[in-house]
Amino acid sequence: MTCSKVVIGADHGGFEFKEAIKQVLADRGLEVEDVGVYESVSCDYPVFADKVARAVAGAGPEVLGILICGTGLGMSMAANRRKGVRAAVCFNEYMARMARAHNDANVLCMGQRVIGLGTALSLVDVFLETNFEGDRHLRRISMFDESGG
Ligand code: RB5
Repeated sequence: MTCSKVVIGADHGGFEFKEAIKQVLADRGLEVEDVGVYESVSCDYPVFADKVARAVAGAGPEVLGILICGTGLGMSMAANRRKGVRAAVCFNEYMARMARAHNDANVLCMGQRVIGLGTALSLVDVFLETNFEGDRHLRRISMFDESGG
């Protein structure tokens, strides 16, 4: 695994998953930076999406992000506004593997109201353990910025 540090964030819709995932990653000896939310109170997901996005944008493959909200959708939309961020909503292991292998995703987004905790932990494992394949996929992701997005 290339990743040695995970920056994790959630809103109230993803708070419980964040706490559980954070613990599992820390138990494995990974460095974990928790950018909040620190209690399950109603809050605005773009705040936390941007904190994680800033941390991973421009960082190498040793730093990956995890964002959890109710669906994963708002978090991914907000995080992807920052250049250098490739945030992917995943709800099964195939998506998590392909997000890394083909898209070089650097932020995994999940929905606590969409998948169970066991699935979420599996997706985290797959995401962290899969490396980008490069080659033609590098050419393709390089085209993201050329399109002005
Ligand atoms: C919060 O109710 C919910 O809108 C948020 O967690 C997320 O699902 C947005 O995309």
